[in-house]
Amino acid sequence: MRYLTIALAKGRLAKKAMEMLEEIGITCDEMKEGTRKLIFTNEELKLKFFLAKANDVPTYVEYGSADIGVVGKDTILEEKKNLYEVVDLGFGKCNMVVAGPKEMEERLKYSNTIRVATKYPNIAKDYFYNKKNQKVDIIKLNGSIELAPLVGLSEVIVDIVETGSTLKDNGLVILDTICPLSARMVVNRVSMKMEGERINEIVEGLRNLK
Ligand code: PRP
Repeated sequence: MRYLTIALAKGRLAKKAMEMLEEIGITCDEMKEGTRKLIFTNEELKLKFFLAKANDVPTYVEYGSADIGVVGKDTILEEKKNLYEVVDLGFGKCNMVVAGPKEMEERLKYSNTIRVATKYPNIAKDYFYNKKNQKVDIIKLNGSIELAPLVGLSEVIVDIVETGSTLKDNGLVILDTICPLSARMVVNRVSMKMEGERINEIVEGLRNLK
């Protein structure tokens, strides 16, 4: 039997995903040892796990370096890779939104001359160019997106909102909701054909947890 490889987006998401996998009997003791190792193995189950930057998970899965990936829907939408999305894992729930100062509410509806700061340029483009037909300027940032309208870099932002505290504490409001997000399991297209049985067992196990 060959190894099945699972790529997990580093951080909170990986931890939650491993907890879910444990519930269906998929464990990885080696991962809990706190080493600097990058790949962890469960010899018995013939599974390998690795942690990667969230944005890189769809790439590893598309190329088949990982058969399975666990990553947020935001990253899946942004990276636009050719993958099967097989399970909504139901945690990490939040929304992709357009946010800004309340005064932007009216201008956002008709103006093309607005600047949008975001970590998600593809999602922002799809929303403004295709859905709203607005030719806005999209400015790519790498974090603390809420800062942009506060310092005059952009009028609005496209970002994730979970509790809403970051917006609230900075005097910003949700102007429109783009879509709901959560953690998803994705599968490489060839792996799905070649290892369908083993992959489906995992997928069904996770689906039945909910
Ligand atoms: C995310 C997101 C918002 C914040 C939303 O940022 O980009 O800034 O969390 O959460 P809230 O609605 O519960 O306040 P993250 O902390 O991941 O860091 P980043 O700003 O560096 O991207």
